[in-house]
Amino acid sequence: MMSDILTVDHLEKKFGKFQALKNITMTIHAGEVFGFIGPNGAGKSTTIRTLLGILRPTKGSAQIFGMDVWQDAVAIHKRIAYVPGDVYLWPNLTGGRGD
Ligand SMILES: Nc1ncnc2c1ncn2[C@@H]1O[C@H](COP(=O)(O)OP(=O)(O)OP(=O)(O)O)[C@@H](O)[C@H]1O
Ligand SMILES: [Mg+2]
Repeated sequence: MMSDILTVDHLEKKFGKFQALKNITMTIHAGEVFGFIGPNGAGKSTTIRTLLGILRPTKGSAQIFGMDVWQDAVAIHKRIAYVPGDVYLWPNLTGGRGD
């Protein structure tokens, strides 16, 4: 559908034998605000990294703007932004540092 911004279809991610994501299916339509919540280790960051084309799905697929998140990552990245909350840079770099 044209208004489907994000579709996730039976997405699965394994790290070796460990199954981090199992059978994730969801659709987000144009204009929706979507809260993606879950306890620590639930797989939120793994899902987002897969949607950003950083991790390759073990099974299943996902599309953003109708494009495949793995195959078409460069084209998708021209139209999306991501602000990570869990990025770790350097221990001496703080939000207050302007130099
Ligand atoms: N690169 C990796 N290799 C092996 N296991 C991983 C890797 N990344 C994540 N995991 C495991 O996958 C599971 C899901 O982790 P993930 O970081 O996606 O959870 P999360 O929902 O973002 O948790 P949090 O709320 O703590 O940020 C966890 O058990 C984690 O240890
Ligand atoms: Mg996380």
